[in-house]
Amino acid sequence: MTAVASAERTHKRIGVVPASGALGAEITGVDLSQPLDDETFAEIEQAFFDNLVLVFRNQDISPADQAAFSQRFGPTEEHPLGSRRGLDDHPEVMVLENRPGKLGPRNDFWHSDISFGEVPPALSMLYAIEVTEGHADTMFCNMYTAYEELSEPLRDFLDGLQAEHNAETLVTEVPSRVQVTEVPPGVVHPVVRTHPGSRRKALYVNPYYTSHFIGMTREESKPILEYLYAQATRHENIYRHKWRVGDVLMWDNRANMHYAVRDYDENMPRFLHRTTAAGERPV
Ligand code: OGA
Ligand code: MN
Repeated sequence: MTAVASAERTHKRIGVVPASGALGAEITGVDLSQPLDDETFAEIEQAFFDNLVLVFRNQDISPADQAAFSQRFGPTEEHPLGSRRGLDDHPEVMVLENRPGKLGPRNDFWHSDISFGEVPPALSMLYAIEVTEGHADTMFCNMYTAYEELSEPLRDFLDGLQAEHNAETLVTEVPSRVQVTEVPPGVVHPVVRTHPGSRRKALYVNPYYTSHFIGMTREESKPILEYLYAQATRHENIYRHKWRVGDVLMWDNRANMHYAVRDYDENMPRFLHRTTAAGERPV
């Protein structure tokens, strides 16, 4: 089922408007400052599995509201490397901030959050409190279709493969990205994982944290990984989100990669609250 086909699913409690042909949907009729009944939540969760990125516009939520909504999907977590500041009274709500004298954290690389962890977060959620419209978009690509559109022999090859993920690049590549000096040892994840909610298979490698396939050298792995990334990030496989104040956007780290467009400087304010909900060990 593609994101487009699943858009035909009927919803009673919410509106689901596809945001691109590849992935993403805008959800209407939901006020995230209010507790959600189970039926509404179930429809949101289904829309999330179908579309991988959900956008709720014009929200006005407190850190407690954001934490509570995130927790419906799984326990909220602090950043494992401590590289993001959390709010004093809500340490699980992290701050992404860009303002004069303080450049925001860089995320201008395709990645899936914390894939170097044993149990990476299922989802991440951002709430836009201040934005500079037209700048600092975030891009997402669909890793279900990136897998499904490969040839059968290549899918068969990848199905049995594992890869190492580690956070080496956080230290070595661009030191200014995050203040990290020590990283945990690498972890091994399947290259193709089955999403526990949708039961669909998704490619689970990313250029920032995946170093190589297990049993193969980095030299052997590189051209294959590069090919997969090129396929995954084709324009047709991307949703590009243009931020507005009041947006709550959540993405599924199990079946997409994202990239924060770095087309701004310190004079273009940006202030978002970020939460993550725990996932499961990829299988
Ligand atoms: C993140 C991230 C993207 C953005 O918080 O994990 O990648 O646009 N953010 O800020
Ligand atoms: Mn990220």
